Amino acid sequence: MTDSLWYQDTVFYELYLRAYKDSNGSGSGDFRGAIEKLDHIQSLGVDCIWILPHYPSPLKDDGYDVADYYGIHPDYGSLDDFRAFLAAAHQRGLKVVIDLVMNHTSDQHPWFQAARQDRHSPYRDYYVWSDTGREYAGARIIFLDYESANWTYDEVAGQYFWHRFYSSQPDLNYDNPAVHEEMFNIIRFWLDMGIDGFRADAVPYLYEREDTNCENLPPTHAFLRKVRRMMDEEYPGRVLIAEANQWPQDLLPYFGADGDEFHMCFHFPIMPRLYMAIRRGNKQSILDILAATPDIPAGAQWLTFLRNHDELTLEMVTPDEREWMWQQYAPDPAMRSNLGIRRRLAPLIDNHKGKWLILNSILMSLIGTPIVYYGDEIGMGDNIALPDRHGCRTPMQWDDSPNGGFSPAGATYFPVNADAEYGYQRVNVAAQEDDPNSYLNATRFLLRVRRQHPELRQGQLIMLGNDDPAVFGYWRVLGDRRTLCLYNLSAEAASFSLDLRHYVGQQLVDLLHQGQTWRIAEWPIVIRLRPYASHWLHVRSET
Ligand code: GLC
Repeated sequence: MTDSLWYQDTVFYELYLRAYKDSNGSGSGDFRGAIEKLDHIQSLGVDCIWILPHYPSPLKDDGYDVADYYGIHPDYGSLDDFRAFLAAAHQRGLKVVIDLVMNHTSDQHPWFQAARQDRHSPYRDYYVWSDTGREYAGARIIFLDYESANWTYDEVAGQYFWHRFYSSQPDLNYDNPAVHEEMFNIIRFWLDMGIDGFRADAVPYLYEREDTNCENLPPTHAFLRKVRRMMDEEYPGRVLIAEANQWPQDLLPYFGADGDEFHMCFHFPIMPRLYMAIRRGNKQSILDILAATPDIPAGAQWLTFLRNHDELTLEMVTPDEREWMWQQYAPDPAMRSNLGIRRRLAPLIDNHKGKWLILNSILMSLIGTPIVYYGDEIGMGDNIALPDRHGCRTPMQWDDSPNGGFSPAGATYFPVNADAEYGYQRVNVAAQEDDPNSYLNATRFLLRVRRQHPELRQGQLIMLGNDDPAVFGYWRVLGDRRTLCLYNLSAEAASFSLDLRHYVGQQLVDLLHQGQTWRIAEWPIVIRLRPYASHWLHVRSET
């Protein structure tokens, strides 16, 4: 693997600056604070940090409403602080990817302010306007809990403007070449600063066309390919990542026919199916989505995750499956948001260590490049009393001192979680440091084993055939290296017989439970799986 393909073989850490570490007592995390915590990030064994939007913003959508693409939100520091963060991360060999919000700006962006005030302003055409608000009726509403239309009437402008998200986020008009120019300048600005790539937000929605659903349109792909071409020519080795919450067959075009669009796409649909499988004790949903996942071009890669800063999205499941997921995982309507579930990993799985290990072991060995969402490495909880998706964005819990060691301020942007089970007094980094059985050390351990075993990252994926719906297994094979990843998805013990005659004379070593070995002989090995067991069985010669 050449250096320029680094993103195919790494682990990402999703960092929410506001929540991470407050260096100056403002009650909000910032870049200087994040620098102090790079030791922690590095200790996990991740290789790349993705930071959520850091731009000046009125924060109506937590920074996904950008008011200035060239700056830093004052709560987070200055451009110099950003540079210092980047340099400190790079010094440790950590890459840094930033969010790029191309589809829309904040309504506070000077472009929109100029546009709404004057029909003849050159900025008017930066946005999408209508006299009637009736166009593009085929486009769905994404923020269903908050918006009733994709058009909002602006009194100042005397027209409706188009928005796919909050009405405080007017969509940019990609039919205007000046918008392309602006975006290219923004992209070059940050790449010149030395970042390693972009997570491009909400890319399916750049263009609108009548009689379509206004998603994944050909001109959208054409623009994105243009971005990629420029990056390849001027900034080789940097990565372009698509956030496109779509079905696998609609995702494939985002990699480009010849691998000439995005380097990476988030694989959204697999995520809810992992939760389905572990609740049903049945692997079928995972098998189905893997079967529907197409091969991707050489040089491309999936990004996989268990949770992120948004709701656990149920857009890519059937209506029946969605209903079932809500009943199982969000019995309290307050846990639901839009078409999803606004809870964190640990509470979703009832803080169950076995389920945690299964989900994380699958994440670290199945397909793609995994992402760890900040706080999930210690099993942080959520706070559904907070609005929208903020319940999963509470301060990082570093220790059991006031505010969980996050901030010396009297009041923080949102309170640190202090509930009985997940509060900072119990769940924090310091407490987990020395506990060999903690989530924190389990995360480090999984990443270490993954790093030591290239077959888990790059190997061919071969599903294990067997009849027990609860026994989920797959081989990862790379040259003569092979490891069988094996899980019992149910609360019942299972046993399973494995015919490994081809490897007689070698042994099977469990990478997840050191010391567990089996001699491989002519006859099948019987493997007994405890409820919710995880094993990575590596074939190794006896010497
Ligand atoms: C993406 C982000 C989400 C944001 C939306 C609009 O889906 O992940 O947080 O609200 O785009 O920018």
